[in-house]
Amino acid sequence: MFENASMVEVGKRVVLVTGGGRGIGRAIALAFAAQGCAVAVTGRTRSYLDHVADEIRRLDASALPVACDVTRRQEVEALKAEVEGSLGTVQILINSAGMAPAAAFLDMEDRLWEEVFKVNLTGTYYCCKVFLPGMIASGWGRIINIASTVAKVAYSHISAYAASKHAVLGLTRALAIEMARKGVTVNAICPGYVETEMTLSNAKSMAEKTGKSVEEILELFKKTSPQGRLIDPKEVADLALMLASTAAGGITGQAINVDGGAVMI
Ligand SMILES: NC(=O)c1ccc[n+]([C@@H]2O[C@H](COP(=O)([O-])OP(=O)(O)OC[C@H]3O[C@@H](n4cnc5c(N)ncnc54)[C@H](OP(=O)(O)O)[C@@H]3O)[C@@H](O)[C@H]2O)c1
Repeated sequence: MFENASMVEVGKRVVLVTGGGRGIGRAIALAFAAQGCAVAVTGRTRSYLDHVADEIRRLDASALPVACDVTRRQEVEALKAEVEGSLGTVQILINSAGMAPAAAFLDMEDRLWEEVFKVNLTGTYYCCKVFLPGMIASGWGRIINIASTVAKVAYSHISAYAASKHAVLGLTRALAIEMARKGVTVNAICPGYVETEMTLSNAKSMAEKTGKSVEEILELFKKTSPQGRLIDPKEVADLALMLASTAAGGITGQAINVDGGAVMI
């Protein structure tokens, strides 16, 4: 008999969103809260986290804001203890914390390269390492890494970002295979230009370097997409919901673009 179950049935799970204080992470946190999940949000800036936690509670969902720098293993372990103590075992982990500074390769300081890798790759690694055992023990889990189309293709002046996001994809794929028989799926979402502070700040720095206006740079970003527009963070959140749903149990090791058709691999 046909059952009219929603495709985005995620159940009342405990969700952790890194980088959940703003941008894509915030949109994802709110989308899961609207589904009735208990949502922990983390990042380094307490005020952003408290604000999102208030928004989550207004959706009648449980919220836990926890300040944590994902590049510090001990802080990620303390985060796990706090989330488990308040909300329970995290079964859905969304790694959205990231940074995308631009620099010409030869001008880039080693410090910048190291920082980008620490946040985008090592932060994702620490969170997977620390939260996976709980998912395996409970027999069900979802890891969704917010990568980028730049995990598959590259542009100039973003060598550290592109290399770190390519590495996130490698981690996603390898982990998906290791987890395949443990009830845990591991996928990546690859957005194009999304309407967030990250995109605005990149547009501002490009405008300073080129003498163009921020609006002109944003138009150039839009033109990279066949749809001629920026992606709304909610569109990324909707795909995260779908990947976390019970219906998506057979989807693992995938890297799905949300970019208006800009990249087709
Ligand atoms: N915007 C785009 O066009 C776009 C496109 C493709 C992929 N992405 C990816 O999507 C993810 C989210 O991007 P966004 O646009 O939402 O960026 P955003 O608005 O700049 O947000 C980045 C988030 O990451 C957090 N974060 C940065 N460093 C952190 C650290 N060391 N520890 C914990 N949290 C940290 C920030 O919080 P604090 O600063 O408070 O720590 C913030 O919440 C990133 O991984 C990004 O690479 C973005």
